[in-house]
Amino acid sequence: MRRAGLAALITLLTTLAFTARADNYPTHPITIVVPFAAGGPSDALARILAERMKVTLGEAVLIENVTGAGGSIGVGRAVRSAPDGYTISFGHLGTHVCNGAIYRLGYDLVDDLEPVVLLPSNPMVIVSKNAVPATSLSELLAWLKSRSSLVTAGTAGAGSGSHVAGLYFESVTGIKLQYVPYRGTAPALNDLVAGQIDLMIDQTSNSINQVRAGTIRAYAVTDDKRVASAPEIPTTDEAGLPGFHMTLWSGLWLPKRTPQEIVAKLNAAVVEALNDPAVVKQLENLGLEIPGRERLTPAALGSWQKAEIAKWSPMLRAADLKVQ
Ligand code: MLT
Repeated sequence: MRRAGLAALITLLTTLAFTARADNYPTHPITIVVPFAAGGPSDALARILAERMKVTLGEAVLIENVTGAGGSIGVGRAVRSAPDGYTISFGHLGTHVCNGAIYRLGYDLVDDLEPVVLLPSNPMVIVSKNAVPATSLSELLAWLKSRSSLVTAGTAGAGSGSHVAGLYFESVTGIKLQYVPYRGTAPALNDLVAGQIDLMIDQTSNSINQVRAGTIRAYAVTDDKRVASAPEIPTTDEAGLPGFHMTLWSGLWLPKRTPQEIVAKLNAAVVEALNDPAVVKQLENLGLEIPGRERLTPAALGSWQKAEIAKWSPMLRAADLKVQ
């Protein structure tokens, strides 16, 4: 049998095998690969959803934190796993959009992944250590411009949401930042509280509790409306950086060729979780916004991801960041 014929037969048999198993999916625990450190915003969102998804799916939903390289290592792990629905890729604007313009990934963010569902989003928030001599965004910008030595900004690595927010901030303000990469914004936030780094442009859901505790200072959220659960923080429009808007959205993906029945089951489990009042309360308390029902289909995530790739890639390419 010629090689091409054999390959096609193997693909067919594999797909048939997985399709046959889709009917009684799941039959054992499922793993969500979170590409950032435990305790951070991605981890927190994944754990809230996993807790509720297991009720619908009847199987445990575990979290595995596989960190490094702006989240691209964890995503790679999920891409290379079997298309059987038991390994889910958690990601966001950074990992499933921006990393394609920054890293030689060894996988394609669109061709090698199956969109499952768009997850809640949150604006970024500009925060600093309390020792920074500024109490408003305009004072912070003046201080940043007055500094001869570079100001340190914590990120979750090149291509992560906190890094892309920094690049965007630099391109809008002309202020250069010195990035300090961590395996997630949880450890970065610890160092900000400890005064080891000066600044972060972090997901609101990650910094909000420290802001409330007064251990760090918030200047503005990167949106045209305030966050309902933190109405005291002004918008960038109100605080003197009009139009500096960035929303960090997340999503779930599966390896390409995962049977559509499994994609549909996981999508339904997440939609049910996002309609659970107890889950909604947890998410809103973190400043997370749940997408409208019409945006919760696998196809909606697919087209949104492509649109975001088209939107962000030019800025990232201009920043010429290609990382091996
Ligand atoms: C995290 O969970 O650490 C964040 O999502 C990282 C980031 O993209 O800034």
